[in-house]
Amino acid sequence: MSAHDDYDGDSPFPRRDFISRLGGISAATVVGVGLGACASDGVTAPHDRPQSDQMPSDQTLSDHALDDTAQDDNATPASAASTPDDASRSGPEAVPFAVGRQAGVTVATRPAGLTASFDVTGNSVDELVAVLSDLSQEISRLMAGAPAREDDNYRPPTDSGIVGPQPPTGTAITLAVGSSLFDERFGLAERRPRELIAMPRFRNDRQMRSNLTHGDLLFIVSSQTSQSAAHVLHQLVRTSNGRLRLRWVQEGYNELLPTNAGAPTRNLMGFKDGISNLDTDQADVMNRHVWVQPGDDEPEWAVGGTYVAVRVIRMMIEFWATAALVRQEQIFGRHRDTGAPLGKTSPTDEPGFAGDPRDDAVPLRSHMRLANPRTPDAPRILRRGFSYLNGAAPDGTIDQGLLFIAYQRAFTTGFIEVQSQLDGEPLEDYVKPVGGGFWFVVPGPGPKADAWLGHQLFS
Ligand code: HEM
Repeated sequence: MSAHDDYDGDSPFPRRDFISRLGGISAATVVGVGLGACASDGVTAPHDRPQSDQMPSDQTLSDHALDDTAQDDNATPASAASTPDDASRSGPEAVPFAVGRQAGVTVATRPAGLTASFDVTGNSVDELVAVLSDLSQEISRLMAGAPAREDDNYRPPTDSGIVGPQPPTGTAITLAVGSSLFDERFGLAERRPRELIAMPRFRNDRQMRSNLTHGDLLFIVSSQTSQSAAHVLHQLVRTSNGRLRLRWVQEGYNELLPTNAGAPTRNLMGFKDGISNLDTDQADVMNRHVWVQPGDDEPEWAVGGTYVAVRVIRMMIEFWATAALVRQEQIFGRHRDTGAPLGKTSPTDEPGFAGDPRDDAVPLRSHMRLANPRTPDAPRILRRGFSYLNGAAPDGTIDQGLLFIAYQRAFTTGFIEVQSQLDGEPLEDYVKPVGGGFWFVVPGPGPKADAWLGHQLFS
């Protein structure tokens, strides 16, 4: 039985949607068919129900289309009108969808989120294009906080309803493609970003689980609540309608610290995390370290995208609890309570070795010093992680850790180089990577009303 067959018969999804999507759509005709075209051109609509008339206007979208920095909370206000049920929600403004670079990469650390990896079930490029187009329309709606139109009570609802009639704003949904998408199935081999490979095994990766790794597509969701992240997952699965098969999911959360804490959050080993990170408001920093640039040795379509490394890293927290505080602090190179580099008082103080390589207040083999030796050519990555708690492990320990997410312009000068420097670090005794993979975040759809995520890959 094929994966599609799973959705026949008692399918919870409207089967005629699925059939209409397959009906004679070719890549050539679907490329360029997206949000606006579906509404105005009479082309087979990704959803056969009318979408809400409260979707963001073209004008609103294009205003932000080329705003490649400061994409975070300066985002487009939700154009969806509030409903009475939502009057009490006062989340952040909507994260823009129709921009040149996916805004989820630069969005500030959120209290909740997840990564969801999917495989494409078929091997037709037309079907792949159609599902990406449909998903883009739904992602655009979810990020705008626009209600789904439920106008036929005799059909299954379009929306799972778990956040009420209207999704909360502030959610970012980012699409990335894996190296397996460039195998023989879709004829995309020539289009593969040069550094997009299946995540290799690193020194401490002996406990990697095959059911938590890789995947054709990855969605990274950052949201205000776990329920809204789960809502996004529901909608991705509904919209893909059997054309994608869920491979693995990892939920995460962050306990956000006050803005003056010097770090967005504290991880489950008790240390402030995210103190030293790239400043997403600085376009030159982002262009240098995160966004693929024109002139890079990459396919042209990849400009404006970025590589993402995801690692599900389990923390052996019971063992960590037996380590003296002094040892814990030497392992990271920072004081636990303040987050300051060892020998300093404020988390934002530069460590002594930044000015003098012989200064060893921060041990040479500490995590912060190996990860960023502060030499002029030290690799830099943009980290956006979540803590996770997956319940009890079979051996009676807590299954918890870090859902590590890092963006970079190239793996070789980003994650791979940093991880190679960290290989063998003392922290390895207390953490074990169990999942993750490498993906490429496609450029944003851009300002055109009919554009969809990933269209550059097919044009
Ligand atoms: C469970 C695993 C990990 C834990 C608990 C952890 C924790 C931390 C902590 C507490 C800091 C210092 C605070 C900060 O500047 O944000 C830090 C910094 C950092 N970590 Fe990790 N980390 C982990 C895995 C990784 C991995 C896998 C990488 C990359 C391969 C990485 C790269 C970095 C970098 C680049 C910094 C900033 C160094 C600096 O600029 O000072 N970390 N991490």
